[in-house]
Amino acid sequence: MAQTIAVLDFGSQLTQVIARRIRECQVYSKIYHFSTPAEKLREDGVVGIILSGGPQSVYAKTAPHPDPAIFELGVPILGICYGVQLMGHFLGGKVALSKEREYGHGHLTIKRPGKLFATLPRKLRIWNSHGDKLTRLPPGFVATAGSENSPYAGIEDAKRRFYGIQFHPEVSHTEHGVDMIRNFLVKICGARQDWTTRDFIAHAVAAIRSKVGKSRVILGLSGGVDSSVAAALLHKAVGRQLTCVFVDNGLLRKGERATVEALYRRHFKIDVRVVDASALFLRRLRGVVEPEQKRKIIGRTFVEVFEKSLRQIGHADFLAQGTLYPDVIESVSIAGNPASLIKTHHNVGGLPARMKLKLVEPLRELFKDEVRAVGAVLGLPREVVWRQPFPGPGLGVRVMGDITAERLGILRNADAVLQEEMMRSGYYWKVWQSFAVFLPVRTVGVFGDERTYDYVVALRIVESVDAMTADWARLPHDLLQKISSRITNEVRGVSRVVLDISSKPPATIEWE
Ligand code: XMP
Repeated sequence: MAQTIAVLDFGSQLTQVIARRIRECQVYSKIYHFSTPAEKLREDGVVGIILSGGPQSVYAKTAPHPDPAIFELGVPILGICYGVQLMGHFLGGKVALSKEREYGHGHLTIKRPGKLFATLPRKLRIWNSHGDKLTRLPPGFVATAGSENSPYAGIEDAKRRFYGIQFHPEVSHTEHGVDMIRNFLVKICGARQDWTTRDFIAHAVAAIRSKVGKSRVILGLSGGVDSSVAAALLHKAVGRQLTCVFVDNGLLRKGERATVEALYRRHFKIDVRVVDASALFLRRLRGVVEPEQKRKIIGRTFVEVFEKSLRQIGHADFLAQGTLYPDVIESVSIAGNPASLIKTHHNVGGLPARMKLKLVEPLRELFKDEVRAVGAVLGLPREVVWRQPFPGPGLGVRVMGDITAERLGILRNADAVLQEEMMRSGYYWKVWQSFAVFLPVRTVGVFGDERTYDYVVALRIVESVDAMTADWARLPHDLLQKISSRITNEVRGVSRVVLDISSKPPATIEWE
């Protein structure tokens, strides 16, 4: 039985990031509702508690408060941001209300390293995001570190093993933040560092089995990393109770459908139903040129086709989805701020409720790199685990303007050449995305002795860390030359290849 670190969640969007950092330290943690009774934590064998941040003031009427008995459990506690104010409030210190939020970079000066800051440099850049702050220490506490705005940026009561920090060690902007968390886990709580991806998988498999029982589970497989890892994990958990649906919308890359069939059906022996709806998608997209309109049609048609295929498959109780933690955050921020919706990303939003399906989302707490690690341990090939992102609307937003079978064919062939050369040279693994775009522009060329009047293909090859910003990849000229001459030689209908050298912003990664 793994030793558990309890993270009490007071409503910060960073709570899952704390959990992620704990996993990085190979320690097992569990996120609990802020009001969880201390008795429950004791029963669960918790060896340490982290109080998360939160958006409220400890004095607010609706402020989330923990069970005060957690301070009597005798286990170490680390309060982060709102968490340290709770310690002040509950243990006899004083917290001052502040109308202004202190947000962004700050500087920490460590005065007494103690166990929390052991072996760290004395001066560190930190990340703040708080309104109220501690103005008087609770009895038994001493200040261990200060910042420009607070003499109590770090506090401790080493005897009771209570520690508090005003800033956020879990975000990457705080230097040595993970080391502070590791010090708390290992040096203070004495946690063993033995929690691995294999343990996560074993845990997830058990959780899926207990949730699903003998019921049938359906999963929409797209071939992307998330749904692929979810499929492999669910298959490990419930075997033939899982049925995957792969919709061929006619907007896939060359060979994609065959690859998916080969891998999941033949290799993993998963029950995959391929639904060929390409004719329907192309019919509905005829004459549509506006990108958002395309997305809406593709999204709506997908849901319709998926729903119909579910009815044909027969009764199921569960719908599995490869939702990741960043998707959870994104849907929250999009819901709260319509301006952040630059392009509508299609998903199967309303489907589960309409179909009376319960959701299984085994990757909901993970970040992308963790999902890749899970996929690798489950035996998915490198081509899947490290696959570049591919948009839901597929080639539909890579054929500029009107989508026709001819244009899709040209794009597919040009894109296949690009992928092949990217793979062969190894650059496929180094860039964020590499793809071709079809431009409905004809230009003059010569082929042999003949004058041609053919289409243009653009190459979009970008580097990025999170797709929020991106820059065009500086590939060797020889490689670009090879890609270009192979496309113009091998792909009929293309006489010119251009390279997109725009960064994001102002350009987006996709052209539509
Ligand atoms: P942009 O073009 O906005 O793309 O810079 C950022 C990332 O999102 C992908 N993308 C999409 N993914 N549905 C998706 O599932 C979409 O409609 C969509 N549009 C863009 C894009 O490939 C890039 O990785």
